[in-house]
Amino acid sequence: MSLYLEERIKCITEPKQKAQPKVYIRTFGCQMNEYDSEVVIGKLLQKGWALVHNPEEADIVLFNGCSVREHAEQRVWSNLESLKKLKQRKPKMLVGILGCIAQKHKERIWERFPFVNLVCGPANLSHLPEYIKELNEKEQVLAVDKQERDFKDFCLTFPAQKEGFKSKGYVVIMSGCNNFCSYCVVPYLRGRERSREIKEILEEVKELVRNGYTHITLLGQNVNSYKNNFVKLLEEVNKIEGVEKISFTTNHPKATSEELFRAMRDLPKVEKYLHLPFQSGSDRILKLMRRGYTRQEYLNLIRKLKEILPEVRLSTDVIVGFPTETEEDFLKTKQLMEEVRFDNAYIFKYSPRPGTEAERKLKDDVPLEVKKRRNQILLDLQKRIWREKCRR
Ligand code: 5AD
Ligand code: SF4
Repeated sequence: MSLYLEERIKCITEPKQKAQPKVYIRTFGCQMNEYDSEVVIGKLLQKGWALVHNPEEADIVLFNGCSVREHAEQRVWSNLESLKKLKQRKPKMLVGILGCIAQKHKERIWERFPFVNLVCGPANLSHLPEYIKELNEKEQVLAVDKQERDFKDFCLTFPAQKEGFKSKGYVVIMSGCNNFCSYCVVPYLRGRERSREIKEILEEVKELVRNGYTHITLLGQNVNSYKNNFVKLLEEVNKIEGVEKISFTTNHPKATSEELFRAMRDLPKVEKYLHLPFQSGSDRILKLMRRGYTRQEYLNLIRKLKEILPEVRLSTDVIVGFPTETEEDFLKTKQLMEEVRFDNAYIFKYSPRPGTEAERKLKDDVPLEVKKRRNQILLDLQKRIWREKCRR
């Protein structure tokens, strides 16, 4: 058993010693954020911290937040607002804001929340214990200087161990994104695309297997762009004894190929499930989004996939209310969903993200009411499709 796992189990199950400092962490956002939180927990447990499940008990409260959509940010801000009262009652308790939201707002977080002690971006997370130490002498620490994640320093084996998902282990295979979709803030906050070496990834998977993790999820902003050949990586992970199931997320249609579909069919451990965001069914909007494919190209990809792997389960992301989206554009999105019949769809109302091309060049001109209506129509549609699929 790895030191990390032993420590983690001890921290969760054994009565806490009095002097042991306690951390509470809450994650808002995607699987990458969940993973980052696990790494943070791993780092702190190794330094003798204990994990608690209630901020009331904690010496430090950490919020690891997402910045991709405005709604995600709002959740962090409102939770931070509620934490203010606890901080007044427990002035010695430290508060840290981590992740994309920290990277984006930097020292501006203190204008609204002066009680926050630590602001730490995703590429700086591996040094978190040092920043906490600095808080012995300083009131506040800002750690957002790193642009790119240092894999060597960061991605040791820190298996994610969500309660109820004890067999699920996550491995980051690449980070950052080069796509610069016009609405998206990720390339600005997580930096350019970087891939880890296959050997390193396989070692980490084996370590997870040794620790009892049988379901491995390969994570990255765009795993298909993995520079050392994603299909080859899947083949190699598939060979590892003890691995029972392999999942991966997330994918971009531009970099998704028939070769991947065949690998999904032929490699028995690979889950027959693909998350393939299409974002909009209108070519005009796709172009404004800089997605790099047309509606027809997306549909061709899905047709090929269903030919090669008829039993595949599919999910997607959709944005409604992108600047200039007309009723006609929206109907094309709706028709695409009716045609593909996804098993699941995540539908988002467009929100301008500062610094992105769409925010700089396009007016957010679709009224909120219209966004809400379109959002609801697609939610209802997806619910209906899902019900019909279940019945069958
Ligand atoms: N507004 C709304 N949705 C967005 N997404 C990313 N940026 C924005 C934005 N500015 C959605 C996309 C992406 C998912 C993770 O979040 O659909 O696939
Ligand atoms: Fe954002 Fe596009 Fe990169 Fe996905 S592919 S993270 S939507 S820029």
